Amino acid sequence: MLDRWASRDEIDLLEQMERVTLSIIGTAMFSADVERHAADIRAALQVLRRGFQREVGVVPTFPEWIPSPHNRRMQGAIDDIDAVVHELIDARRGRADEYDDLLSKLLTARTDEGARMDDEQIRDELVTVLLAGHETTAAALTWTWYLLANNPGVHERLHDHAADADPTETVGSSAGAADDASFVKQCVQEAMRIYPPVPVITREAIDPDEIDGYEIPAGAEVVLSQFVVHRDPDLWEDPLAYRPERFAPGEREAQPTYSFFPFGGGQRICIGRLFALAEAQLILARVVSEVRLTLRSPTHDTPAVDSAVTMVPDEPVEMAVTDW
Ligand code: HEM
Repeated sequence: MLDRWASRDEIDLLEQMERVTLSIIGTAMFSADVERHAADIRAALQVLRRGFQREVGVVPTFPEWIPSPHNRRMQGAIDDIDAVVHELIDARRGRADEYDDLLSKLLTARTDEGARMDDEQIRDELVTVLLAGHETTAAALTWTWYLLANNPGVHERLHDHAADADPTETVGSSAGAADDASFVKQCVQEAMRIYPPVPVITREAIDPDEIDGYEIPAGAEVVLSQFVVHRDPDLWEDPLAYRPERFAPGEREAQPTYSFFPFGGGQRICIGRLFALAEAQLILARVVSEVRLTLRSPTHDTPAVDSAVTMVPDEPVEMAVTDW
């Protein structure tokens, strides 16, 4: 990515972050070059985002089996993503033993009774990891760069720390490289607090309940919003201020447990959270050591957000790439 930037003086940040995280998830999980499909996946996801927003909106949409223009567009986008995933599966069939990655594990997995996963299950798992495994981290990084560009003091501090940081070393020792690494991590966590890549999750109530005086009937869909909780002034002082030191060792522990839950919680907590955090820190540390990203647009204070499962800026974030 940095090589690619060498010949450019301005980049579309989200697009670049999506490309690099797609490339990483493709290599790590499927040992494949998925990045070459980046433009198709991006276009398909854009259609699905718009479609999702329509489906949760107030204007009713037709059921899936009716060939309405909306449904045809959605199906077309799903087919485009399926095509990428089926290409991965087809290329691997008969060669699963040659690789030790998630794709091979899914193809060779057996239940205790010896049954294998059917094609649809394998496809579902792959699509989940492909999408959940790159869009979210790209959103986290985009917001982190955006906040750094708007907080030059923090950006410079990060630059000073990153050169010595080993982002795989974010716990334990209180001195030296671990401290530097810890600051890289704090920058990502604080960005995910203000702009959580997944702004809401939902749960279905199994039984009736009462929470803080509110009756929850059985079957109700309960919405838990990271976006709201992470910005609650009762939980976070001056909540819109970007202050990575809120996550410094010792500080975070003083906060109530679920005042920060970018990866959800409980049994369905994000399976990729350690992967995502390590990846985001490595990208951040490497890029900030080499180049300085300066915001060209948007220049207004609070960018509108576009929320559809993940939350990204509603307009392109253009960054200038320069030396420090
Ligand atoms: C900053 C990056 C990420 C964020 C903010 C994030 C956020 C989340 C959240 C909030 C959930 C829980 C959804 C719920 O409770 O309804 C979740 C689940 C999940 N995430 Fe992530 N995620 C990230 C990165 C990743 C990565 C890199 C992977 C794959 C390697 C991944 C794979 C998954 C999967 C498979 C689930 C479903 C787990 C289950 O239901 O048991 N995520 N993620």
